[in-house]
Amino acid sequence: QDERYRHFLDQHYDPKPHGQNDRYCNTMMRRRGLTSPCKDINTFIHGTSDNIKAVCEDENGKPYGTNFRISKSRFQVTTCKHIGGSPRPPCRYRATREFRYIVIACEHGLPVHFDESF
Ligand code: C5P
Repeated sequence: QDERYRHFLDQHYDPKPHGQNDRYCNTMMRRRGLTSPCKDINTFIHGTSDNIKAVCEDENGKPYGTNFRISKSRFQVTTCKHIGGSPRPPCRYRATREFRYIVIACEHGLPVHFDESF
């Protein structure tokens, strides 16, 4: 269960980003092991992990649909979208900086899945 949380952090958490531009995405996607094959879309959440964890509780989240929770506050996020047809590396990404509500799944009070952001 902690394993799934670790995996969530690996894929979706970067407390202090530098850049939030295309190069940030290209580097981060590779560094976090999301480029074999090139993952289509991936969001990095900035800020503190405590604030993200709090989405699993009433403190900063509420139920959304059957399985998810949506944050009560917005997070600074970078969305990385794969550009180009081939899923084979080298992968090239387009970055979008956003300030959004996040939709996640929690397990035993910990984030384990990122679904989308608004
Ligand atoms: O929407 P889809 O099912 O294709 O999403 C697959 C995965 O892509 C999600 O589990 C999540 O890791 C990632 N994703 C993301 N940010 C989004 C949409 C999807 O990180 N805005």
